[in-house]
Amino acid sequence: MKSAIILAAGKGTRMNSDIPKVMHKVCDQEMLSHIVNNCKKANVQRVVTVVGYGKDLIMDTMKDKCEYAHQDVQLGTGHAVMMADTLSKEQGYTLVINGDCPCIQTETFEELLKACEGIEMVVLTAIVKDARTYGRVVRNADNSIEKIVEYKDCNEQEKLINEINTGIYCFNNQVLFDNLQCIQSNNAQNEFYITDLVEILNKKNLKVGALIAKCSEEVAGVNDCYELSLANEWLQMKINKKHMLEGVTIIDPKATYIGSEVTFGKDVTIYPNSHFKGNVHIGDNSVILPNSFLINSTIGANTTIDSSRITDSKVGDEVSVGPNAHLRMNTVVENKNRIGNFVELKNCKMGYNSRCAHLTYLGDCEIGANVNIGCGVVTVNYDGKNKFKTIVMDGAFIGSNVNMIAPLTVGKNAVVAAGSTITKSVADGDMAIARDRQTNLEGYGSKYKNK
Ligand code: UD1
Ligand code: CA
Repeated sequence: MKSAIILAAGKGTRMNSDIPKVMHKVCDQEMLSHIVNNCKKANVQRVVTVVGYGKDLIMDTMKDKCEYAHQDVQLGTGHAVMMADTLSKEQGYTLVINGDCPCIQTETFEELLKACEGIEMVVLTAIVKDARTYGRVVRNADNSIEKIVEYKDCNEQEKLINEINTGIYCFNNQVLFDNLQCIQSNNAQNEFYITDLVEILNKKNLKVGALIAKCSEEVAGVNDCYELSLANEWLQMKINKKHMLEGVTIIDPKATYIGSEVTFGKDVTIYPNSHFKGNVHIGDNSVILPNSFLINSTIGANTTIDSSRITDSKVGDEVSVGPNAHLRMNTVVENKNRIGNFVELKNCKMGYNSRCAHLTYLGDCEIGANVNIGCGVVTVNYDGKNKFKTIVMDGAFIGSNVNMIAPLTVGKNAVVAAGSTITKSVADGDMAIARDRQTNLEGYGSKYKNK
């Protein structure tokens, strides 16, 4: 049995934020989500998050992705672990993880679990250039780990140590819960430190090991918004590099923001300042031009997205979107469409090979195949209380500057003349004109100007 306890009850005072620290996002996910996901990938069966400050927000966000233990007053990391006693009867190994270590990877959890086999505790440590306020790892003459000393409790000699405690550990679960009550709070912060277990277990001749992390950035803690940016940079570069090694052309990796769930086909090119969040897939040979923002959307193959925002939508193959288009709320654009500049599609289905090239709002509608939507067309779908549907069937032609007051249907191969405001359905093959006839008054133009 593998379990994990994630410590997330603290406020994160140094973040200077009302949001609990572990809810701050790194790439497109909360710090805590990264840790929980990576625990699951390491086959950890039970993940218990210790919550306190801001627990409603944490639990609303994480839902049933993990279990919860409550620490109403924050008396230290050791006390936080005590609160997770729902695990006290489990056999096997338990990871204890500071909730502010968002970059820690699945493989490192696996290595830590392996290193704990046959011993009681393993501390994940790191060798760093600047040990800042991390807890220092003090080793015995034989190089075994003697104790961890918190920065505030360090003497001058200990402050010089450059091996630090990452705040990530693995325990034999029974040994962990048998010894938690031995932790005392007689230290500079009057807190119960989980780190004291190193000395406690050593004194009982129980085996404590240390695993040195391969990369100190991966295990760095986040205590303020600057460190948050460092974690973000590291994880983003790792994600971007993986995609580049798989064949995605990223023109400027430092200015490309890709979430951890995003996938790409072959030969995709991404221009700078594009953002991909949540569940996004970009198909083969597609090009994402600068300043695009894609959330939970699928883009087909051979498609170009130019400076556009696409959320919760699906775009097919050989489509051109933008510049400056906005597709949202279950919009589905079939293959070979052209969605041009300043077009907003909301809950709109565009059939095969249609076009809507300029300055248009189409909301709550079904547009067939081979339809032309002229410039400045508006579906008037909302009467202030309810939303109504517009249907435009295959081959129809909607002229420029047309208002279609829903609900209505424009039939197959029907035409709506430019400038019309139509309120009634148009049958297959008919033409609707709904505008005043033009009157030209001879000479009145010059007269008016000379007045
Ligand atoms: C801790 C370690 C330190 C290590 C560093 C690595 C202790 C005593 N010190 O220090 O050795 O170098 O992490 O980043 O463990 N938390 C609770 N309840 C509490 C206190 C803390 O849930 O009562 C949570 C916090 O929300 C946070 C995590 O535990 O996610 C770590 O707490 P923090 O105060 O950041 O510990 P550090 O001072 O960084
Ligand atoms: Ca910390």
